[in-house]
Amino acid sequence: MALQVELIPTGEIIRVVHPHRPCKLALGSDGVRVTMESALTARDRVGVQDFVLLENFTSEAAFIENLRRRFRENLIYTYIGPVLVSVNPYRDLQIYSRQHMERYRGVSFYEVPPHLFAVADTVYRALRTERRDQAVMISGESGAGKTEATKRLLQFYAETCPAPERGGAVRDRLLQSNPVLEAFGNAKTLRNDNSSRFGKYMDVQFDFKGAPVGGHILSYLLEKSRVVHQNHGERNFHIFYQLLEGGEEELLRRLGLERNPQSYLYLVKGQCAKVSSINDKSDWKVVRKALTVIDFTEDEVEDLLSIVASVLHLGNIHFAADEESNAQVTTENQLKYLTRLLSVEGSTLREALTHRKIIAKGEELLSPLNLEQAAYARDALAKAVYSRTFTWLVEKINRSLASKDAESPSWRSTTVLGLLDIYGFEVFQHNSFEQFCINYCNEKLQQLFIELTLKSEQEEYEAEGIAWEPVQYFNNKIICDLVEEKFKGIISILDEECLRPGEATDLTFLEKLEDTVKHHPHLLTHKLADQRTRKSLGRGEFRLLHYAGEVTYSVTGFLDKNNDLLFRNLKETMCSSESPIMSQCFDRSELSDKKRPETVATQFKMSLLQLVEILKSKEPAYVRCIKPNDAKQPGRFDEVLIRHQVKYLGLMENLRVRRAGFAYRRKYEVFLQRYKSLCPETWPTWAGRPQDGVAVLVRHLGYKPEEYKMGRTKIFIRFPKTLFATEDALEVRRQSLATKIQAAWRGFHWRQKFLRVKRSAICIQSWWRGTLGRRKAAKRKWAAQTIRRLIRGFILRHAPRCPENAFFLDHVRTSFLLNLRRQLPRNVLDTSWPTPPPALREASELLRELCVKNMVWKYCRSISPEWKQQLQQKAVASEIFKGKKDNYPQSVPRLFISTRLGTDEISPKVLQALGSEPIQYAVPVVKYDRKGYKPRSRQLLLTPNAVVIVEDAKVKQRIDYANLTGISVSSLSDSLFVLHVQREDNKQKGDVVLQSDHVIETLTKVALSADRVNNININQGSITFAGGPGRDGVIDFTPGSELLITKAKNGHLAVVAPRLNSR
Ligand SMILES: Nc1ncnc2c1ncn2[C@@H]1O[C@H](COP(=O)(O)OP(=O)(O)OP(=O)(O)O)[C@@H](O)[C@H]1O
Ligand SMILES: [Mg+2]
Repeated sequence: MALQVELIPTGEIIRVVHPHRPCKLALGSDGVRVTMESALTARDRVGVQDFVLLENFTSEAAFIENLRRRFRENLIYTYIGPVLVSVNPYRDLQIYSRQHMERYRGVSFYEVPPHLFAVADTVYRALRTERRDQAVMISGESGAGKTEATKRLLQFYAETCPAPERGGAVRDRLLQSNPVLEAFGNAKTLRNDNSSRFGKYMDVQFDFKGAPVGGHILSYLLEKSRVVHQNHGERNFHIFYQLLEGGEEELLRRLGLERNPQSYLYLVKGQCAKVSSINDKSDWKVVRKALTVIDFTEDEVEDLLSIVASVLHLGNIHFAADEESNAQVTTENQLKYLTRLLSVEGSTLREALTHRKIIAKGEELLSPLNLEQAAYARDALAKAVYSRTFTWLVEKINRSLASKDAESPSWRSTTVLGLLDIYGFEVFQHNSFEQFCINYCNEKLQQLFIELTLKSEQEEYEAEGIAWEPVQYFNNKIICDLVEEKFKGIISILDEECLRPGEATDLTFLEKLEDTVKHHPHLLTHKLADQRTRKSLGRGEFRLLHYAGEVTYSVTGFLDKNNDLLFRNLKETMCSSESPIMSQCFDRSELSDKKRPETVATQFKMSLLQLVEILKSKEPAYVRCIKPNDAKQPGRFDEVLIRHQVKYLGLMENLRVRRAGFAYRRKYEVFLQRYKSLCPETWPTWAGRPQDGVAVLVRHLGYKPEEYKMGRTKIFIRFPKTLFATEDALEVRRQSLATKIQAAWRGFHWRQKFLRVKRSAICIQSWWRGTLGRRKAAKRKWAAQTIRRLIRGFILRHAPRCPENAFFLDHVRTSFLLNLRRQLPRNVLDTSWPTPPPALREASELLRELCVKNMVWKYCRSISPEWKQQLQQKAVASEIFKGKKDNYPQSVPRLFISTRLGTDEISPKVLQALGSEPIQYAVPVVKYDRKGYKPRSRQLLLTPNAVVIVEDAKVKQRIDYANLTGISVSSLSDSLFVLHVQREDNKQKGDVVLQSDHVIETLTKVALSADRVNNININQGSITFAGGPGRDGVIDFTPGSELLITKAKNGHLAVVAPRLNSR
């Protein structure tokens, strides 16, 4: 059962998931190694993953056999040390998924099966940790998989790198720039269905956090001859077919195009407009979407496609010769479309296509072109338009990829990762100027590879004084020189021939080349070749023995292509274009520039030199791509073809140098700087020479003598495992250092924070205390002032009002008035009232009156009518008796009753006798006879008109009020009273002597009913009353101990009234 390995993205910890054994955790790459061997599946272990481990490392057969065994298992990647060899599988192996990316993230290079992502990750980590610019150089012949590898690398970075803080869209733009550039710069060739027809070097910029923040693309020499001509079996650039296949009807109508590539002469030269492996329609959609992502507006897309369409229309421009054999445009329709699409004047374009402007002695002359010349001019225009548009496109993409932070200071801290995907070495049946340039480029890159790996490596060992057995390798510098050397090089000779006055042709160039270079071991021409080889060489051909093999070039077109001539009037016409793109592509300054422009080959040479400089300034990583067969078939391993590539790519030499050499080297300073934390003596600083420090360090790390060598300026470590162990130790150490730094920093950070908080708290506290203190002081001051004022006021309180006593007086007044509120009398009887200050005396009196009135008013409002009556009666009683009769005070607290007898107690006869007269008051009384003074029980009734004396059921006496002349009563405590009656009335029996237990009440009621309030006499000593006609009676009152009513001897009624305490 296969063992499963789960890689945690940092790569530090590996968890081995085994069905039968407990889960095992191992730390660092040690852990990785512990588990790697078992984690690798049997399939992974096919052959060797690194050619360095090859037993017979000098044998090319063994090398190829290893490649074959792995290829058969679809293991397309194998290392030679840090160099990755990749064999194009021509099938989707499903090895570029997100999972695969995770698997290779943060893991040491050799600890996982070889993969492009391992290179990608190693480069990225070097970029981040060492902060050195990196370059991944991908080489190999056409169709070997360079472009695919570049795309996968970009995808890896886009998906695994952290997103930038701003401008996250840059990742999409980096990815989406690819389909657009491929549409315009790639084409189907015999070697590759998606062959890059331009060189591309792309920089990806990373910020200090490792996030991609921008990019820049350099493009190299687009193969523009393809626009007008394709070899059999090849196509023009993809975009033409994509537009015709995928473009919407409406778009095609606007561009004046038909949906049929066969209608366009520029698309039928190779006779294979349709290719099964290419889906132009879906590619079109991808390109359209990508254009939007890289900031193309709808108008810009339309402008761009107008240019593409104009190239197709140009191809369909036909000429016919007139009588003077001058060319005339016959395809008016095409001309009409061109005028619109290129935004130029129709007549100017027509003239420019059929005439050539010559400036002779300062005068401009128009010379008509013949058919052949017109066709040449047309094709030159098509090529110029397309290639300049391509350059514009690259610039436009660069603007979209440019880091938006380019101005900010952090920009300076960005590091750059370069990806080089340039056209591969190619050999066709018919090879021309383009192949010459392409192969020269590959020659230069091989030279760089040699310099950076083989040569420099060996030179370094020598320089460092390390014992070393040199490895033989083929240095292609001789070929590079042959091509580029000043004066003697092929490019120089070609340029000379182009610039020379007189009749220079491709053949004169060849002759010149033969004359100048003659016996160069890498150049052959028909003339220079021996008998045997001559047969394989045409007269117009020369053969170069490239590092990658022999290529025979036909010189036809070399001069033209190198000159890259565009007739002046065509240039002028294009400069007058109003199309936004064309006006940028054809600059008017070009017309006035008298200097002859650099030839194509020289321009290319210069740009390559620049490229080499760029690459040299970076830390290189290599991916060497191998093409397994020419038929683009999966699973086919063409040994001859592969052996050839292994040879010219110098892989065997690479391996031999690698085996003999050391896996790793670093300057002492750099090595010490990186690993010094691993040794107590070198940490944190080493005071002596770096070399000695490194010696101490490696001793401490326990390096065995065979594991390393000390050079003059560098340490060389032979085996990767030694370095891994050191790296692992560093990783562990870093963790602890990081923890320490973190702890220290946190401590510092929090202490700073604490101190800040403390400072703030103290500040707030002191401020608050100050505020409180100030408030208190102000209060005290105010209090003291107030007290002082009061005292002063008090002293002067009797003085007239002046500023000094005003406050006191006001205070006394205010407090009197305020206190008064609380000390007001509670009721009418409460006579208390606070003493007012002298100044308020009058006011106080008024207030008091008001208060009493108010209480009275309130009291009055609250009493009931019954109570009112009661009080009125009581008031009358008081008026009459107060201070005059002894038993009055006793009556005060007793309420007067409305009547002392109910109607049920009065005889109905009496009631009947009274008729309608109501009884207002009834009370039992004792009547004393006028003669004998016998007491008789009677009822006294008051009606509205009379006092009625009733004996049981009989009205004994009725005294109308009119006849009631007065009432007499003693001043003592007795309860006798006399009702005095008008004497004249005969009916009246005389005055009536009565006694009532409620004498005060009874008399008050009688007085009120009879309106005799002022007629009550209160007598001292005795009362005289009329006892009958002519006879008066007397009642004598004397005070005694108790009530006694008797008839005295003198015939008077003697009443002894008890003394009351109250008197
Ligand atoms: N790793 C791969 N996995 C699957 N297919 C691949 C891989 N690499 C290359 N191919 C196939 O091979 C074809 C050619 O590859 P690619 O275009 O990358 O070649 P190239 O080296 O860039 O060639 P040229 O120099 O012509 O541009 C691709 O279109 C693809 O079909
Ligand atoms: Mg390519």
